[in-house]
Amino acid sequence: MANEIRVLIAEDDVNTHEEWRESITAWGYRGEIAEDGIRALDLIGTFNPHILVSDLKMPRKDGLELLREIRELGIQLPVIMISGRGEIPDAVDALKLGALDYLRKPVDPVHLRQMLKNIADHMTVREENSVLRRRLAEVGELGPLFGRSLAMRRVIATIERLAPSSASVVITGESGTGKELVARTIHELSPRRSGPYVPVNCAAIPETLMESELFGHERGSFTGADRRREGCFEVANGGTLLLDELVEMKFELQSKLLRVIEEGRVRRVGGTAEIPLDVRVLAASNQDIERAVREGTLRADLYYRLNVFTINLPPLRERAEDLPQLVQMFVQHYAAQNHRDVVGVDDDCMMALQSHPWPGNVRQLRNVIERALIVCDGRIIRKVDLPEAFRVGGNGASSFIKVPLGSSFEDVERELIARTIEFTGGNKTRVAELLGVSVKTLYNKLERFASDRPENLERPQAAVRKGK
Ligand SMILES: Nc1ncnc2c1ncn2[C@@H]1O[C@H](COP(=O)(O)OP(=O)(O)OP(=O)(O)O)[C@@H](O)[C@H]1O
Ligand SMILES: [Mg+2]
Repeated sequence: MANEIRVLIAEDDVNTHEEWRESITAWGYRGEIAEDGIRALDLIGTFNPHILVSDLKMPRKDGLELLREIRELGIQLPVIMISGRGEIPDAVDALKLGALDYLRKPVDPVHLRQMLKNIADHMTVREENSVLRRRLAEVGELGPLFGRSLAMRRVIATIERLAPSSASVVITGESGTGKELVARTIHELSPRRSGPYVPVNCAAIPETLMESELFGHERGSFTGADRRREGCFEVANGGTLLLDELVEMKFELQSKLLRVIEEGRVRRVGGTAEIPLDVRVLAASNQDIERAVREGTLRADLYYRLNVFTINLPPLRERAEDLPQLVQMFVQHYAAQNHRDVVGVDDDCMMALQSHPWPGNVRQLRNVIERALIVCDGRIIRKVDLPEAFRVGGNGASSFIKVPLGSSFEDVERELIARTIEFTGGNKTRVAELLGVSVKTLYNKLERFASDRPENLERPQAAVRKGK
């Protein structure tokens, strides 16, 4: 298979040509080399490459111009750009012009080889996939991601466009809008899909452990490090790493993170060996991430490095037209799971759902439907099956807590937090906002309560889960 794949290299430094030719052949491709952009265009016509690897800086016609012309000619050709030091803004322009990816000089052959392999593997299935995906986008579904609204279709179209590359993506949106789902979908639609998908929740990991969680550690590198441990970056090698709640990461650690991403290699805490990485990094945040940059909690250079593409997920209240489809999907899902013969919701119930503000977005909707399905006694869910807040119009009835005299501050705190979590449908950011504490503080409190009384309060989700 690889034998039939033709790779064109456009590079003006003739001293490296022999080396290029040898590598490409050794990896099993047919290679051809152009010394400038004009020659590259000629060869695209005659050699008809499957993949183009192009230097950004070249005489006569540089990489960006070459890319622009390829696009204008309507040629479908995956392009990997090679940028020199300081050419990152141009590399980002190249991605915007449709380049699949970029590499920095000096090119790491291991990395390039993997990129070529990803593209080559992907090529055979691409045709059928793109037809399938177009259909999915038309009906408003992309894998598990639902939404017929214009806003969601835009999101779906963007995901399709950027999934095949290795470019970073920043995903923003209120809690429960589907950021993690989007991250996973990007991974599933990318050539990395057979590699690992590793989500890390930066808010749920104690600050002191964060560094070793991300980068790993050698045995004995700190008290408690009784054995060697791979960090998330290593675990995600060949796949995708999601840095969830990125804004919660300590400022000093952010520069280390940036360095690892830029250099494409990692050193474990207490270690010396540099481990080469091929990881696509996605970041998610439910806070206004640009404000975090302005306020100095998120490093600007890290943000700009990650923010090659942005996906902003609209809150549920701004896409009420998606509600019926989501409701139907959750009803079917939970009916099957609970072996119940429930088929839908009645009009009155749907109206109550549609007029709700949904502070917890799709997650909250899912929970409401799951609960309604359990309490409902017919085949159709009715308004009486919804939580009290939906029945009285507004959140009136559930927005009070009763505290018996004689309670301690801690009891009150516990009750208030538990009820606020209920009130927001589990939206932790909103809970923290309402209570006037940071998300981190909230997690710490939950952690403490959970260890006192494990059955009563929700624990923060496991910080790290391996993908399938
Ligand atoms: N568009 C959608 N289609 C189908 N299900 C969705 C959609 N958006 C969200 N969900 C469901 O809602 C739940 C919450 O989604 P997810 O965990 O991705 O949200 P999130 O934005 O990461 O939230 P948080 O900020 O709280 O971490 C999941 O069960 C997910 O499957
Ligand atoms: Mg999430």
